[in-house]
This record gives sequence, structure tokens and C-alpha cells, in this order.
Amino acid sequence: MGSLDGKIALVTGAGQSIGRGIALALATEGAAVTIAELDAGNAKKVAAEVEERGASALAYPCDIRDNAQVAACVAATVKRFGGLNILVNNAMASVVGIPLEETTDAAFALSFATGPAATFAFMRAAFPHLQGDGRIVNLRSGSELSGLPGYSAYVAAKAAVGGLTKVAAREWGAHGITVNAVAPFAPGPTTQAKFEEHPEMLDGILRSLSIKRTGDAEQDIGRAVAFLVSPAASYITGCTLMVDGGGSFL
Ligand SMILES: NC(=O)c1ccc[n+]([C@@H]2O[C@H](COP(=O)([O-])OP(=O)(O)OC[C@H]3O[C@@H](n4cnc5c(N)ncnc54)[C@H](O)[C@@H]3O)[C@@H](O)[C@H]2O)c1
Repeated sequence: MGSLDGKIALVTGAGQSIGRGIALALATEGAAVTIAELDAGNAKKVAAEVEERGASALAYPCDIRDNAQVAACVAATVKRFGGLNILVNNAMASVVGIPLEETTDAAFALSFATGPAATFAFMRAAFPHLQGDGRIVNLRSGSELSGLPGYSAYVAAKAAVGGLTKVAAREWGAHGITVNAVAPFAPGPTTQAKFEEHPEMLDGILRSLSIKRTGDAEQDIGRAVAFLVSPAASYITGCTLMVDGGGSFL
């Protein structure tokens, strides 16, 4: 028996890293999962991994910058599984590591299109299906609290996701929908490779953490999301859970 038996989840950007970890953690608790992902090959791979855990999966290649594709993804999930109970807005693409004054309009627009605009479009499309006992988890970042040089578009977009999370938590509680966020730290393969090349980078980060290790996408971030969408968290809404080893405190 899992805490999410019979539930239907949609996770954006679930083709790799944290999104994959979330999809697998939800599947382990018994949820069927739609993998909404730009990379069709990775979507298929993660769908197979979800099925290996004994859960149903729908690989759904799409570009979350396109509202028509967002609506179609929600509709395909409802058609395939008969409903939608859990929405996780995880995907985001950003150009980072550039000073604010050199950040282009295109770089700024990319963060906003894949961050708050896609999160908004998925929340609006999912709303009718989530009525009664729905759960939303959005992905934020500890960098919203500290500011992070070189990340102007990213941090601004994440702060907007935070705003949407709070307003929806206020508006949708009466509809039986909880809306929460997590701020994770679980570097993906590209960042891990950078750490291997420059161990001093990782040392610097670990010095700033209370728990001296990097997070695991499934065991740390995925299981925290699985808790927020479980019946045990039915009285929690508008909360941002920092799952970053004590990197930042709200
Ligand atoms: N990794 C961390 O430590 C960390 C820290 C703070 C916040 N976050 C947030 O957590 C989330 C996941 O981070 P990650 O490191 O796993 O990211 P990632 O870049 O490894 O994965 C993002 C996924 O989203 C998909 N994607 C990108 N653009 C898309 C589009 N237009 N349509 C559909 N799918 C698209 C990518 O193909 C990829 O599979 C992001 O919102 C990120 O900002 C991550």
C-alpha cells in the first residue's frame, strides 16, 4: 500500500534530474504519472522506469512554453487515466552565469516562459480536475532569498513562481486544493561533472550547507514532494519547503 495509490500525477520536466526523481518517488507511492517533457527520448525512458516501479506512466513530449500544448497535455492525462489529482511544475530552462547588464531579452523571456508562465498555464488548465482533493507543488529556489550573481532572469522568474504559489493557495483552499512549493538542492549530471572538474566549487557550496552533502533527486527531493501531495499534508498550503540541506532558511 502506497500513500498515493489510485492518484494521478503530472510532472513537468520529468525526463531527467529532479523531475525524474519526483516522478519515481510518486510512482513508488502508487501514483500513475504523466511525464511532460521536451526531450521525447528521456520522457520514454522515465516512463519505462515508472512502470518498473509497478505504476502506470504516460510519456508526453511537449513544449511547456506553448499554452495549447499545456492544455493538450492535461487533457491527454485525463483521457488516459480518468482524472488528475497532482500537478508538479518542475521544468524550467534558463541561461545563467551572465551579469544582469549583459542578459538578453531572449534569455530573460526563456526563464519567464518556462517558469511562471508555464506554471500559470498548467495550474489554470488543471484547476477543474483538481477540485475537491487536488495537490500542486511548484519548484522554487533558495536563490530567491539570497540573490545570486549571474542569475537575474532565473531568480526573478522563480520569485514570480513564488507569488503564484501564494495567491493560488489563498484562492483554491476553498476548492479543496493545496498549493505548495519546494526549494531543492540536488545538482544534475552537468553540474556534478563541473564539480568533478573543479572540486573547490563543491567544497565552497558544502561549507554553506548545514548537512554536508548534495541532495538526491529521488530520495530527498522526490520524497519531500510525495509527502506534500499525500493525505498526511492535507492541512499544509502556501508553504515553501526548503529541501536544500540547510542552504537557506525562510
Ligand atoms: N538542481 C538544483 O539543485 C535546483 C536548485 C534550485 C531550484 N531548482 C529547480 O528545480 C527544477 C528542476 O531542476 P533540475 O536541475 O532538475 O533541472 P534540469 O535542467 O536538469 O531539468 C529540467 C527538465 O525540464 C525540461 N524542459 C526544459 N524546457 C522545457 C520545455 N520548454 N518544455 C518541456 N520540458 C522542458 C528539460 O528537458 C529537462 O528534462 C527547476 O525548476 C529548477 O529551477 C533546481
